[in-house]
Amino acid sequence: MISIEDLSHSYPDGTQALKSVSLRVRSGELVLFCGANGSGKTTLLRHLNGLLKPTRGRVLLDGMDVSEHASQAVTRVGMVFQDPDSQILGETVWEDVAFGPENLGLAQDEVRRRVEQALALTELHELAHKSCLWLSGGERKRLAIAGVLALSPETLVLDEPFANLDYPSTRQILTQIVQLHSKGHTILLSTHEVEKVVAHVDRIAVLAGGELKLVGPPETVLPELAAHGVRPPCHHLMGLPVASWINI
Ligand SMILES: Nc1ncnc2c1ncn2[C@@H]1O[C@H](COP(=O)(O)OP(=O)(O)O)[C@@H](O)[C@H]1O
Ligand SMILES: [Mg+2]
Repeated sequence: MISIEDLSHSYPDGTQALKSVSLRVRSGELVLFCGANGSGKTTLLRHLNGLLKPTRGRVLLDGMDVSEHASQAVTRVGMVFQDPDSQILGETVWEDVAFGPENLGLAQDEVRRRVEQALALTELHELAHKSCLWLSGGERKRLAIAGVLALSPETLVLDEPFANLDYPSTRQILTQIVQLHSKGHTILLSTHEVEKVVAHVDRIAVLAGGELKLVGPPETVLPELAAHGVRPPCHHLMGLPVASWINI
């Protein structure tokens, strides 16, 4: 259980990016955070593993205060940033995925096992020895996810996972997200492109101006999206049943 309690965040320049946000996410839930640019999505997600410290309030992971136990939080909550390049550190795909588990001080056998598993899950095994420099946008995103999976976190946080991806890459990333969810991972992701993922989410949380305006299952939230600066999915606008972007 992730418990976000009265969370506020002000940046040093005085921008109040989050205002008293409270939300509980159950273990195994898939929650979508949406909202217009600047609504506070990235700021909120970065509190979940202690990357940012609250100005007020707190985030609890099964009762553990994240900002007081940041090193534990990092292993329990894996963060995939919007810009995958910011978290690609290795020369080759294999080295990059191995970087995290090696840093945890794991034995070589365990490092190898985790890298193989993460590359298989993200369908990158054929690129294992390719230079990270030559990967496509979609491959970089999958590599960022593989690097996080190798840390074996129970919760995955993905900030704008579909940004700058074409249709096939979006489907590939979405397939991975849905598979990880079905394996029991808790998943929190942000996007303003609700349509891409709405068929698979348990709840949608809507942010505007740093405030949590609304949270609930898609059927109750979709009619309110436009009022908060988020485009409703096509199926909703046309009165049709929800359609998935993938075949699962
Ligand atoms: N490092 C920073 N310093 C000052 N203001 C920031 C910083 N990062 C984000 N902000 C501001 O905080 C608000 C929320 O930003 P952000 O969390 O990035 O929103 P979103 O991810 O929804 O686009 C915006 O007004 C943004 O300009
Ligand atoms: Mg953002």
